[in-house]
Amino acid sequence: MKTIGVIGSGLMGNGIAHVSALAGFDVILSDVELARAEAGKAVIEKNLGRAVAKGTMQVDEVEATLARIRLTTDPAAFSDCDLVIEAATENEAVKKAIFKGLALKDSALLASNTSSISITRLAAATDRPDRFVGLHFFNPVPVMKLVEIIRGLATSDATTAAMHAFCKAIGKTTVEALDSPAFIVNRVLCPMLNEAIFALGEGVGSVVDIDQGMRLGANHPMGPLTLSDFVGLDTLLSVMHVMQEATGDPKYRPAPLLVKYVEAGWYGRKSGKGFYDYSGETPVPTR
Ligand code: CAA
Repeated sequence: MKTIGVIGSGLMGNGIAHVSALAGFDVILSDVELARAEAGKAVIEKNLGRAVAKGTMQVDEVEATLARIRLTTDPAAFSDCDLVIEAATENEAVKKAIFKGLALKDSALLASNTSSISITRLAAATDRPDRFVGLHFFNPVPVMKLVEIIRGLATSDATTAAMHAFCKAIGKTTVEALDSPAFIVNRVLCPMLNEAIFALGEGVGSVVDIDQGMRLGANHPMGPLTLSDFVGLDTLLSVMHVMQEATGDPKYRPAPLLVKYVEAGWYGRKSGKGFYDYSGETPVPTR
C-alpha cells in the first residue's frame, strides 16, 4: 500500500491524513472546496508543530510529512489510490453520493470512518462490497491509539487483514467490532455523554460539577460535557438517532437539551459554543 486517499478534511479527515503521511504514505486529501482542504492541511501543520515545540520532531520531518499530502477537490484524483478513506459528514445520503462519484482502480480498498452508519448498507451502495470496510478513528486522531475495524456482511478476509496491517503501519491498535449500531466504543460512550446531558437538563449538577465529577470520580481525561463539545454535539445527536432508529429502544432517546443546542447551531467546540463558550482564552460554561 502506497497511496491513501482521504475524503473530507474536517476534524477526522485531517487527522487521518496526518497519521498516514507521518507514517510515510502518499496522501491525497479532498474536500468540496480547496479552501477547506487547505484549512485541513493548516491544522495538520499546527498539530505537527506541537511535536517540534516539544523537541520530539525535527522541522524537516514536518516538511517532508506535509509534502506527502496533496490537496484536491476532484474525485478523479483518487484513481491511483490503494485505499480511500471517507471521512465526510455523518450523513448516509452524502456518503453514498460520494461513493457513486469515485473512479477507483479495481484493487483499491474503500473504507468509511462513519461512527454509526451500517457498513453493510454503505458497502451495498458501492461497486466493491467485498473491498469495503469500516475504519473508525477517534478524536484527536494523532493522539488516540484505537481504530475500530468493522466488517460489512460482504467484507472479505483479505480486506480485513489489509486494514489491520495498515492500522499497524500508522501506529494504531485495532479492535474488530460487529456491524451493529455505533459499533463498540460509541455504543458505550455516547449513551454516557447523553446521560450527562439529561442530568444537566434535570438540574442534577452544573456543567462544571458534572464534568469535575466524572474527571475526578471516574478518572476520565475530560468531563462528559467537555467531551461532548469536543466530539461535536451534531455528531453525538446523529449517533443517538442512529441507535434509537436501529434498535427502537427508548433508552437511546436523545436528551432534549442536546436536541435544543443542535437546533440553535451550538455544535460545541467547532462552532465556538456548546456546553462551554470557546470565544475567550479559557472555555466558560454557557449555563
Ligand atoms: N493533534 C496532535 N497532538 C495532540 C492533539 C492534536 N489534535 N491534541 C492533543 N495533542 C497532544 C499534545 O501535544 C500532548 O502531547 P504530549 O503528551 O506528547 O505532550 C498530548 O496530546 C496531551 O495533550 P494536552 O497535554 O494538551 O492535554 P490533555 O492531557 O488534556 O490531553 C486529550 C488531551 C488527549 C484530548 C485528552 O483530554 C483525552 O484523551 N480526552 C478524551 C478524548 C476522547 O475520548 N476521544 C474520543 C472521542 S469519541 C470519538 O472520537 C468517536 C466518535 O465517533 C464520536
